[in-house]
Amino acid sequence: MSEATRVACVMGWPAKQSRSPKLHGYWIKRYNIDGDYRVAEIAPADFPAFVQGLAKNGFVGGNVTMPHKDVAFSLSEPDERARAVGAANTLWLDNGKLRATNTDVEGFIGALDVNAPGWDRSTDTAVVLGAGGASRAVICGLIERGVKTIHVVNRTAAKAAAAKERFGSAVSPATWEEVPRLLNGAKLLINASSLGMKGQPELKIDLSPMAKDAVVADIVYVPLKTKLLEAAQQRGFKTSDGLDMLLYQAVRGFTLWFGKKPEVTKELRDMLAADVLKST
Ligand code: ATR
Repeated sequence: MSEATRVACVMGWPAKQSRSPKLHGYWIKRYNIDGDYRVAEIAPADFPAFVQGLAKNGFVGGNVTMPHKDVAFSLSEPDERARAVGAANTLWLDNGKLRATNTDVEGFIGALDVNAPGWDRSTDTAVVLGAGGASRAVICGLIERGVKTIHVVNRTAAKAAAAKERFGSAVSPATWEEVPRLLNGAKLLINASSLGMKGQPELKIDLSPMAKDAVVADIVYVPLKTKLLEAAQQRGFKTSDGLDMLLYQAVRGFTLWFGKKPEVTKELRDMLAADVLKST
C-alpha cells in the first residue's frame, strides 16, 4: 500500500454482510490495481461527517447501502440517474466534488440484456412487484428502454402512487389482488420487493397466465435461485437473478474509482454464487 493507493469502501450500518468487498477485491486483484475496497460500518449519526470527509480520510469514493442512501443523496451532487430514482448507491470524488449516481438501473438492465437478449423488442408492458428504492431503479430502467406501461404492485398503496408521481403516466399502481389479472399474457415480471428473500415471507405467485415466451427477473439473490425463478424456469421462461444485477451494478463504481472498466465473468459470478450458497 502506498500513498497512491486508491481506496473505496462500502458505507452501511450494518455493512459486514455486503458482498461488494469480495466483488471489487476480485477485480482489484484481477487487473493488478494499486487499490483497496474496505467495509465502513458507520452509525447514522456519524454518516454526514464521514461522507463529507471522504477525501480527507483517503477515499476516492464508495458504495452506499442501508440506511444511508437518502443522506448520501442529499449531501452529494446526484447525476440524472440518481435524481430520477431519488436515491444514490455510488459516490465518487471528481476534482474534490462529491458526486453520486444510482447504478442499480444499469445493473438491472445489464443483467436482463445478458439473460434475455432482445427482451425489449416485443415487450411494451411489465409487472413490477414492490415500490421501494430497488423498484424505482427497475422502473427507471424499464422506462429508459421504452416500456410503455408498468404495473407497479405494492402492499402500501401510497408508495405505488408515489412511483406514478415520480415517473409519470407509464406507471399504473396496482394491488396484490390484481396480480393474476395483470399476469394474463404478460411478457415481463420483476420481483423488486423483499418477498422471497431469506428470512422474509415467501412470494407465492401462479405464473401460468403469463405468455409462453415470458421473462421473469428477481432482485433477490439470497437465495440465489428464488422460488419465483425456479417456477419460471420450470415453465421454460428466461430468468434474470439478483446476483447478476449486483455484478452489473458494480461495473461503473469500479470504473469511476479505479479507472478500469471491469468485466463480469463466469469465474467471478461462480465465486460470488459459492459465497451466497454458503450463507443459505
Ligand atoms: P428496497 O430499497 O430494497 O426496495 P424497501 O424500500 O424497504 O427496500 O422496499 C421493500 C419492498 O418490499 C416494498 O415495496 C415493500 O412493500 P411496502 O411498501 O408495502 O412496505 C415490499 N414488502 C416487504 N415486505 C412485504 C410483505 N410482507 N408483503 C408485501 N410487500 C412487502
